[in-house]
Amino acid sequence: MLLDAPQLAPANQHIILIGLMGCGKTTVGRELSKVSGRSFLDMDAIIEEQIGKPISEIFAEEGEAHFRSLETALLRYLLEECPTSAESCVISTGGGVVMREENRKLLRTLGMVVWLDVDVETLDLRTRRSGNRPLLLTESPRDVLQKLYDLRCPMYYKTSDVVIRSAEMDVTDVLLICRRAAATYFGN
Ligand code: S3P
Repeated sequence: MLLDAPQLAPANQHIILIGLMGCGKTTVGRELSKVSGRSFLDMDAIIEEQIGKPISEIFAEEGEAHFRSLETALLRYLLEECPTSAESCVISTGGGVVMREENRKLLRTLGMVVWLDVDVETLDLRTRRSGNRPLLLTESPRDVLQKLYDLRCPMYYKTSDVVIRSAEMDVTDVLLICRRAAATYFGN
């Protein structure tokens, strides 16, 4: 009977981190989950686990559009069905998640969206050694990052509740800003 179903927390209780590859979503997300006692959900990792392949293989075999559909399906699941998301979680997203309008709406419905805005120079340095980002496996990853930055900035901006220019900051400073913003946003 519906009335006996466990009471789900409102869907808008999560803290969601968005931003370009290398901006620190996973690092900040992990630490934030520890200090705030929230579970940590990494969308890229969940997709890899569900599909049973690394993202680079999903891109190579099924293409980017398919990966984007997986992201949308996961956001819908987090919003509507996932039992873990009945708690308040910290959710780290893939850098391109904001490119679909439906995803932007879902993200905003899920909770407080934090954009970690980091300059291209720093992103380039931070991502140089990672071979697991298919979009950066090119002759000039810096140019790709610049193009993505120009294209995506307006999307990150209009999706976020909080913008943190975090390139020069220690993780502890970023955490402090997130926690203060969450206290104001969630009213506690
Ligand atoms: C992507 C970012 C990646 C991953 C995929 C596509 C993007 O995640 O989702 O490689 O389009 O910017 P990170 O931002 O966590 O590296």
